Amino acid sequence: MTDLIIDWYLANKRDLPWRDTTNPYYIWLSEIILQQTRVVQGLDYYLRFVSKYPTIVDLANAEEDEVLRLWQGLGYYSRARNIHATAKFVRDNYEGIFPSTYEEVLALKGIGPYTAAAICSFAYRLPYPAVDGNVFRVISRLFAVEEPIDTSSGKKIFTAYAEEMMDVKHPDLFNQAMMEFGAMQCTPQSPACQVCPLLDKCRAYELNLVKLLPIKSNKTKVRPRYLHFFDFGDKEYVYLQKRGVTDIWRGLYQLPLIESENEELSLDKFKNTFSIDEDIINISNVANYKHVLSHQTLHCSFYKVDSLPAADLSEFTRILLSELDEYPLPRVMEKYFEKR
Ligand code: ADE
Repeated sequence: MTDLIIDWYLANKRDLPWRDTTNPYYIWLSEIILQQTRVVQGLDYYLRFVSKYPTIVDLANAEEDEVLRLWQGLGYYSRARNIHATAKFVRDNYEGIFPSTYEEVLALKGIGPYTAAAICSFAYRLPYPAVDGNVFRVISRLFAVEEPIDTSSGKKIFTAYAEEMMDVKHPDLFNQAMMEFGAMQCTPQSPACQVCPLLDKCRAYELNLVKLLPIKSNKTKVRPRYLHFFDFGDKEYVYLQKRGVTDIWRGLYQLPLIESENEELSLDKFKNTFSIDEDIINISNVANYKHVLSHQTLHCSFYKVDSLPAADLSEFTRILLSELDEYPLPRVMEKYFEKR
């Protein structure tokens, strides 16, 4: 089976820049960018990062705001903070040379078993299977494994299958091939079974389970959050604040915010928060965006607030709109300013 998948890969693979390198720094960057990001979107970001920071020491020496700014639009910003922290760690503890054993790579911040295996197999040809969502799907179908893919016991079972299938002479080819096969051929919704070179070996096909597999236990709880953002700015200026060290969007800039338990905005809370005494307030809801994260759904409402000299905005920074692009913004904030 392994040989058939590798043959399929050699005939069908996409030409992607991180496949033409054994530089562990570039491979690491590409893998972090591609977590929770599609290849077409990730490609541009990868090229920008590699061009701006050609070595891990260049990345380590950059300002955090600049790294976050370059990451803007990709989401899940802890990935950007982690690559920056890890780059500094490698600069300070490994003389700027990416470590070369699986254990050392796995110990780096932001690198789990999948990413460590991807880096070690692509850069050093070490025989660790890189088992991502695509590979879970391929294995669950090939062997008709009904174990859920999102439990730790399930993950162990799938990893054991991948170890069994591993081509120890070509771990890099094997891992790329498994991922690509899952991404292009054995896809979630409409796998191309009729042209699949493994059709007569696929247990799920034989048992008519292709559509059903892989199985998820769905234990992930998604929490709704209601965020109300206020735009006190005018044609030239806008008021923003940098988010703190906990919670989502750490270190990014946002409009003044009130978070509430539901969709409703309480005017009293609005007045209290910004120390407003006036009775008549000119405020209008100008945009609403839903933003889906892995564990939270954010309901973001934007309000334009007109002429309020009495509001206390001392916690916020007045920023020229023409200089807004120097500040890293969450994607929803960016969307708001695109239409403002
Ligand atoms: N997704 C994650 N890693 C990848 C890789 N190396 N090639 C293509 N897609 C990927």
